[in-house]
Amino acid sequence: MTKQKNDARLADDEDLNTSSNVSFNQVLDARLSRRSMLRGGIGGAAAAVLGSWGLAACGGGGDGDGDLPATAAASPITSLGFAAVAKNRLDKVSVATGYTTSVLIALGDPLTAATPAYRNDGSDTDFANRSGDHHDGIEYFGLGADGKRDRSSSDRGLLVTNHEALTDQFLHVAGATARPRPAAESDKEVPAHGVSIVEVRKTGGKFGYVQSSTFNRRITPLTPIEIGGPVRGHLLLKTAYSPAGTSTRGTINNCGTGSTPWGTFLTGEENWAGYFTRSAADNAARGNDSSVTALNRYGRPQGAASRHGWETSGTADRFARWNISKTGPSTDGSDDYRNELNGMGYIVEIDPYDPTAPIFKRSALGRFAHESAAFGIPAVGRPLAVYMGDDSRGEYIYKFVSTANWDAADANPAARIATGSKYLDSGKLYVAKFNADGSGSWIELTITNPTIAAYASYRFTDQADVLVNARLAADAVGATKMDRPEWCAVHPSTGEVYFTLTNNSNRKLEPVASQQGLDAANPRAYSDSFNGGAPGAPGNVNGHVIRIAESGGTAAATSFAWDVYLFGAQADADASSINLSALTADQDFSSPDGLWFSANTGICWLQTDDGAYTDVSNCMMLAGVPGKVGDGVRTTLSYTKTDGSLVSVDTWVGRQPAANALKRFLVGPVDCEITGTAETPDGRTLFVNIQHPGESISRADIADPSKYLSHWPGNAGYGAGGATARPRSATIVITKDDGGRVGS
Ligand code: FEO
Ligand code: CA
Ligand code: CA
Ligand code: CA
Repeated sequence: MTKQKNDARLADDEDLNTSSNVSFNQVLDARLSRRSMLRGGIGGAAAAVLGSWGLAACGGGGDGDGDLPATAAASPITSLGFAAVAKNRLDKVSVATGYTTSVLIALGDPLTAATPAYRNDGSDTDFANRSGDHHDGIEYFGLGADGKRDRSSSDRGLLVTNHEALTDQFLHVAGATARPRPAAESDKEVPAHGVSIVEVRKTGGKFGYVQSSTFNRRITPLTPIEIGGPVRGHLLLKTAYSPAGTSTRGTINNCGTGSTPWGTFLTGEENWAGYFTRSAADNAARGNDSSVTALNRYGRPQGAASRHGWETSGTADRFARWNISKTGPSTDGSDDYRNELNGMGYIVEIDPYDPTAPIFKRSALGRFAHESAAFGIPAVGRPLAVYMGDDSRGEYIYKFVSTANWDAADANPAARIATGSKYLDSGKLYVAKFNADGSGSWIELTITNPTIAAYASYRFTDQADVLVNARLAADAVGATKMDRPEWCAVHPSTGEVYFTLTNNSNRKLEPVASQQGLDAANPRAYSDSFNGGAPGAPGNVNGHVIRIAESGGTAAATSFAWDVYLFGAQADADASSINLSALTADQDFSSPDGLWFSANTGICWLQTDDGAYTDVSNCMMLAGVPGKVGDGVRTTLSYTKTDGSLVSVDTWVGRQPAANALKRFLVGPVDCEITGTAETPDGRTLFVNIQHPGESISRADIADPSKYLSHWPGNAGYGAGGATARPRSATIVITKDDGGRVGS
């Protein structure tokens, strides 16, 4: 989700960081104090491009060797072999010439032999046995002829897909009914969220999904899930559903994904807070205890309304759990759902191959609005690192470092979920601080840190509390507030870690209240000509992609060097303050979100979820061949404040991409987001998700298909409805017509 558009349902999820750490002046002071140390000095107030910087001076690794194991891409593609796709607003999937796309599976498609075909007229039911809505992150797990995991299989596999959210109007014949919501509608909407596992198989050279496969299953907001790690059994997790605080009911708003080195799937719970309601008098009901501070920080102030109103569908427990007000007399919350929110916001581990294996929320990785989870390149005998972002305006970037050292025998274990418990239930959680000099540090979030233990704004009781309320702990230690961290991914050759920062309407030259000022890692605030229909609204309108190189290339490093791989911008935007990466018309993009590296080709796939450049083009997907941290230039940006004074911001701009190192590969249908990439191990088949085409629809317009912004994929010949079909989120398959690797 997460458009820059003014969506009132989402706004409360994305603008919650009112902590006062990292002020503009602090960053500026730090930058100024370093100026005398910089070789070549700094130019005048005007924007100026300076020479390459020396990473050695920043204490960073950056050269990609060190302790990094050599598990580079099978055969990296160094020059993109296709012609760029032009920006467009067509209601179709436009892919590069020489490639073919087809729809693999779409919203509502049946996952059992007995489930009827999707009618796509709002009358369908039984979403626990159908593909969910809003396809998001996706991972491919190879399947051998024996029905077991086969990491090299490129013609049979399990596709595991997140179903982040709903276009609820299209799920019902006459659109979604106002509150109180009919139980029958809620019972369709809830299981349309979650995760799907679907067998896919190549037949006659073409991939399709296997409707009758016994591997097919759904994980929904109603599926029992265990709590793993330090938070398991904690007082903060006690609910009427799990008085022992050891389990939760389901997962929701699953956005980015990841896959583990041992063959399991990770799903990130992102904007989960908005599904729950809190009564207007709940602060007093709770005795104004510390839970009120935590709930405010995580997006549920008292009086907050739920996104879909499922709690209004009846007194049954499955509806009651969406009301997180204190309603019971107990002191520990075991008789109501006052603690329900603490069971959401995790990285969740699922074994795609084994429906009998328990599912775990890995609490050691912290609780926030998780997007993807990306492993650093495993090194035998060393800890594993997992990188993560928290997608809200001004939130943070995190890293988990396992206690257990990597054992190569665990790459193909007999018990995958037990292996997950070994590596993911014990370790250290860090948050990132980006320094103005191009260095950065990882600050451990531990109750043994006096700054956290003595934090005045929230009194942590123990380490589990630090993990549940990781945002508050990160506030305490002064982490750097970022421009909405979305996906992260690890370069298969260099091991460097890339994070998309999608956009931030709160990044301001002259911030007020909870807005963020400029800093080196989030250096732009400017006005866009469209910006979601609000011309001139300033902020970091188009987003950027930041990357880090761990010191020494090790997972456990506590310092890093960073630069910005790409700044999103329109090609015609000012080159000295906005289009810093010199993007051409074949390369320009806005609001990067999906980010994924091919282990085969090494290509960096970038996807957009945009509301700022959509007056020119629908959301898109680009292929990149990045260099490494430090391959560009140090740049000083200059902005004029309203009183006429100048403010300068130094930042670190990666090498501007050559024409064959960044190209637009695909443009999606109208009003969609492109998100999620997976690939067969041979690099010849790409799976990509098209999320919510035509999502902007009101109940009043449901009866009139001419009001739908999109009819895809019906208008492409897929499923019921034809040229006037209700639009559907879907997974597409992309292959190269000559059978070659995608992107070659
Ligand atoms: Fe679900 Fe942050 O995008
Ligand atoms: Ca979306
Ligand atoms: Ca997004
Ligand atoms: Ca996303």
